[in-house]
Amino acid sequence: RAQRAPVIVAIDGPAGTGKSSTSRAVAARLGLRYLDTGAQYRAAAWWMLGNGVDVRDPAAVAAAAEKPQIVSGTDPAAPTVTVDGADAAGPIRTREVTAAVSAVSAVPEVRARITALQRSIAAESVKNGGIVVEGRDIGTTVLPDADVKIFLTASEEVRAARRSGELKGKDASDLAATQASIARRDAADAGRKVSPLAKAADAIEVDTTELTLEQVIQCVVTLVEEKQQGR
Ligand code: DC
Repeated sequence: RAQRAPVIVAIDGPAGTGKSSTSRAVAARLGLRYLDTGAQYRAAAWWMLGNGVDVRDPAAVAAAAEKPQIVSGTDPAAPTVTVDGADAAGPIRTREVTAAVSAVSAVPEVRARITALQRSIAAESVKNGGIVVEGRDIGTTVLPDADVKIFLTASEEVRAARRSGELKGKDASDLAATQASIARRDAADAGRKVSPLAKAADAIEVDTTELTLEQVIQCVVTLVEEKQQGR
């Protein structure tokens, strides 16, 4: 197929909207790199928990913000995240890290550090066709000049059901508990002072409540292709 100009795609939204599954699949289909920014914040939180930092103390978290070396692999077929060289993929999905991550990611020093990392990864990706970056503040703060900005939403019930389906077997948790945990995290992520979860003015909102994953992927692929064709 014809050589295309590099494209930067920002996909934001709350937990359980299918951001990761959608972003990975879109990147794979379009031959783009892929970055899960939530995994970077989780990696920071995991490091803090493992190194005796009180995650409830913003000053302590700020003082440690530069310490963990977080490295993200951006192949959508096999994304990776390491902290100080150790594979963090498993540990960052535990309940302990999920419970700590909103507090850690609300600390400005942590955000500044990780935002800089994200911008350098996005700049580097231009050599490889571009990237799909998913998170909470990508379209608003990290990459305000992204070529395509998507904001995924879904009803709270559907998001809880999807998340609890993912957890099944791994970290057994019932629907009501999952819904409460998602609601708590969304409130914290949307309510924080520094670059909260928000839809950019120029983002396209896609409500995934009634859509299958494949429909969401198709929708985003089409939006990116239209942009690449200059429509
Ligand atoms: O996408 P996720 O659920 O793995 O993200 C984990 C947390 O990281 C989320 O609750 C808030 C934070 N986060 C953020 O503050 N900014 C981002 N761009 C991505 C995630």
